[in-house]
Amino acid sequence: MFNPKTIRSDFPIFTHNPLGERLVYLDSAATSQKPQVVLDAILQYYQTTNANVHRGVHQLSDKSTQTWDDSRATIANFFDAKTDELIITRNTTEAINGVAYGWGEHNLSEGDVIVATLMEHHANIVCWQELARRTGARLEFVTLAKDGRLNQKSLRENLSLPKVKLLALTHVSNTLGTLNPIAEIIAEARALQPNIRVLIDAAQSAPHIPVSFTKLDADFLVFSGHKMLGPMGIGGVFVRSTLLQSNQMRPWLFGGGMIAAVTTTATTFTDEVSERFTAGTPDVASAVGLATACKYLSKLHMQDVGQRDLELVLYALEKLGEVPEIEIIGPQDFASSEVDRVGSVAFIYKGMHAHDVAQVLDSVGVAVRSGHHCTMPLHQQFGWAASVRASFNVYNTKQDVDALVAGLNKVRQVFNR
Ligand SMILES: Cc1ncc(COP(=O)(O)O)c(C=O)c1O
Repeated sequence: MFNPKTIRSDFPIFTHNPLGERLVYLDSAATSQKPQVVLDAILQYYQTTNANVHRGVHQLSDKSTQTWDDSRATIANFFDAKTDELIITRNTTEAINGVAYGWGEHNLSEGDVIVATLMEHHANIVCWQELARRTGARLEFVTLAKDGRLNQKSLRENLSLPKVKLLALTHVSNTLGTLNPIAEIIAEARALQPNIRVLIDAAQSAPHIPVSFTKLDADFLVFSGHKMLGPMGIGGVFVRSTLLQSNQMRPWLFGGGMIAAVTTTATTFTDEVSERFTAGTPDVASAVGLATACKYLSKLHMQDVGQRDLELVLYALEKLGEVPEIEIIGPQDFASSEVDRVGSVAFIYKGMHAHDVAQVLDSVGVAVRSGHHCTMPLHQQFGWAASVRASFNVYNTKQDVDALVAGLNKVRQVFNR
């Protein structure tokens, strides 16, 4: 049973930070807080198991290797994927770079088209701009409708262009909260371009709703551990097995640990995915931490986590909708059974800069994010200089939303508006 009060007590930040229990943390889209079990697992790894993996015959190295392999299996299982489809990276950004270097460089050429959308995080734009510059490919953007959803006509038009090789799309927008109907979009993309590859950015969906790499039928799916209760410094990309087996996706980092044999003139790489794409010493402790976070979330049941998130999002939309000075951005009108919004509510405070709003909120213990949230093209399309974003995770409550609304009343008093 989902009990926010007990859940909150699992997170030491709410007693150990300078504000103590008064902290209202509404910045989980930037990074989530970590439960004690995750911190304990990391400490325990270093206290009991620490040794380098794969290269040792001694017992501790063996145990560490087993821990690394088990952690990878748990993480893959959380995403309903095969362990051999998982490449561990530091975060989503590194994972997208990995796809650009490991797949894009070998499969794109002059005149090919990459389709992204105007709601992408910079990580899912800049990597493709750079890849386009290196290969001569072109990057095109799907525009957005006024309600913060994808413009379906623009999506179809872009996917119908000649030589579209890749669709790079976020599952959930980190600014608008829009939940894209990716299963339908992937099906449409494949109908229009049978050879297209699809990359799904699950950085903002994985913390909140069940994500199945297998069911989605994507070619690449990227995520960050630190947004889903895990430690910073670990994330990954799931890659369709056939792309790995056929060598269409190749290693992009080279060195020890990923080789079969090395001479002074040539190297062959191991076929074992967990090693082939892990050059150098991996961050085993963070893998343990992320695996523990996956188990923690699974115990809460991702369906229930999603339901709870939905309740908070709807409550925030209702309460923030009563504040006259603000304009909420992103989807707000929903068909009765279908709320396509996840994890956050962002808004524009009319006539005031987002940073000023965030600063006053901070003075009353409410931590929100202000700025462009690494989505400058999105802000440009709508003519916004910046926005304020309140984002949630399992430890947030309706009282946190109430505190945000009370904080906005303080903003009004401070600036006399
Ligand atoms: C949708 C989305 N994609 C990618 C990223 C980049 O994540 P990271 O900084 O962990 O690499 C973020 C981070 O906020 C995000 O929200």
